[in-house]
Amino acid sequence: PETEPAAGEEAASIGEAREAAKVCRRCQLWHDATQTVFGEGPETADVIFVGEQPGDQEDLAGKPFVGPAGRIFDSILDDAGIDRRKVYVTNAVKHFKFEPRGKRRIHSKPNAGEIQACRWWLDKELDLVKPNLVVALGATAAQSLLGKAVPVLKRRGEVIGRDDGLRVFITIHPSLILRIREQEDKEAERERFLMDMRKVRELM
Ligand code: URA
Repeated sequence: PETEPAAGEEAASIGEAREAAKVCRRCQLWHDATQTVFGEGPETADVIFVGEQPGDQEDLAGKPFVGPAGRIFDSILDDAGIDRRKVYVTNAVKHFKFEPRGKRRIHSKPNAGEIQACRWWLDKELDLVKPNLVVALGATAAQSLLGKAVPVLKRRGEVIGRDDGLRVFITIHPSLILRIREQEDKEAERERFLMDMRKVRELM
């Protein structure tokens, strides 16, 4: 179909929502992306991790957190004793937004309208999975989950309660670790993120 403004209204399971999201036209990002990258994990998960948006590799694979950020995320979850197969992992925005630069596609930040449009799907995932805890990986996720900007560096490691009772754990996006050049600083940031994930394990 050319337009599916109401895709997903009737979805009663994650599988049905994922199917409906394939034809989502709630914003324009579908146009240049390869495919919708929906959340992944058991519908019975206790915790949902929310990233920003799929990157280049996720866009091609159709799965969240499988590229460089996903690899460091997986290794730290593993160190924290969290089994990725038992948690639900998704993004605030479900299409890859990028600027072409030669042969490469450079990630560009989703804007407030795109975050708002895609929040519909995140709410659907929260509704269906009913987690005990949601982890906001970075500012975009926090903004989507809490409806306002959150200074994540200041508030990392904290739980913010929503009016509906949902607990939102604030931390950085794991790609921040990848961007640090200096080896010692990189290690220190990895350690801080690991401590956050250990807290998450206690809270879930
Ligand atoms: N970064 C994200 O926020 N999500 C992904 O799925 C991959 C990288």
